[in-house]
Amino acid sequence: MNIIIFGAAGFIGTNLISKLSEDPNNRIIAVDHNKEFFSDILFFNRNNVEIVQSAFTLEINFDELLKEQDIVYHLVSTTIPMTSNKNVSQEIIPDVAFSIRLLDSCVKCNVKKVVFISSGGAVYGMESNCPISEDSKTEPITSYGLQKITIEKLIYLYNYMYKLDYKIVRLANPYGPFQRPNGMLGAVTTFTYKALKNEEIIVYGDGSVIRDFIYIDDAIEAIVNITFNNSDYNLFNVGSGYGTSISEVLLIIQNVLERSLKISYLPSRSVDIPVNYLDISRYNSVFGKLGTVSLTDGVIKTIEFLKKRYKI
Ligand SMILES: NC(=O)c1ccc[n+]([C@@H]2O[C@H](COP(=O)([O-])OP(=O)(O)OC[C@H]3O[C@@H](n4cnc5c(N)ncnc54)[C@H](O)[C@@H]3O)[C@@H](O)[C@H]2O)c1
Repeated sequence: MNIIIFGAAGFIGTNLISKLSEDPNNRIIAVDHNKEFFSDILFFNRNNVEIVQSAFTLEINFDELLKEQDIVYHLVSTTIPMTSNKNVSQEIIPDVAFSIRLLDSCVKCNVKKVVFISSGGAVYGMESNCPISEDSKTEPITSYGLQKITIEKLIYLYNYMYKLDYKIVRLANPYGPFQRPNGMLGAVTTFTYKALKNEEIIVYGDGSVIRDFIYIDDAIEAIVNITFNNSDYNLFNVGSGYGTSISEVLLIIQNVLERSLKISYLPSRSVDIPVNYLDISRYNSVFGKLGTVSLTDGVIKTIEFLKKRYKI
């Protein structure tokens, strides 16, 4: 299978490549603009992975890259929820324009399937009827969420116009190895990293915000199942299916590390939805139970990785 991954050197891309490259029949092209980020992928040392450094400008033409590709993974996002409302047009336009160009090329090059990683945390907005099913209304409160739902709609349009096959994964909050603990995204990984280094952990609000955390291996298994197995659905929520508060996450990290944490509380942010966790019954009914790694076990695995990776 010929597979090309855009945004390949990030957290999800790196884990996806690790999994897909285990199969010697897969030939993978990993595309990203950030050369430094490729070090982890190179470390896997798999000879069925080719690396292409490319920045996705508005002028880019993907035809050359997409020739003879079976599966295209769209993992690119130039924006994150936290900052995406600061300059809405600047945040939305590049991702949407990139996606249109990519889809045009997919059609031209007869790509078999496009897989888009959307956001189960952002597209549903303030929807408080948790667990949230795929059929719930989508009213994002960030331009990050708006960008995701717009790209989803573009994909539906290309399927309608050109029969381009697709799968959309509305992913909750993955955490674990290869997530960069820079405090911008990924509470579990960032808090664990800070705790290991005995650094201050910043919590926005009082710790009552509830999210759906899923260990990255479980998320990758789900993405791979959705990509390669037939099903009548094109859209799936992927998460643990239950909510955990930020305070509970901190308590788990504290218990696993057997040390007290340095926590500072700042005012809550308008972009933080109070409660979000996903209904994963669609996934479970098609592919079997999703998410076998508990948060405690996931934190233990994340600690092992961070200690080795950052020599803590
Ligand atoms: N991590 C999460 O919590 C989460 C949750 C739901 C959905 N998602 C989505 O999954 C996808 C992957 O997420 P991630 O956590 O791996 O993000 P990431 O930031 O770790 O990786 C994204 C990669 O895309 C690359 N990229 C961004 N803009 C680019 C451009 N203009 N040209 C070339 N490369 C570019 C970056 O260099 C980066 O390596 C994103 O679309 C994200 O929105 C992530």
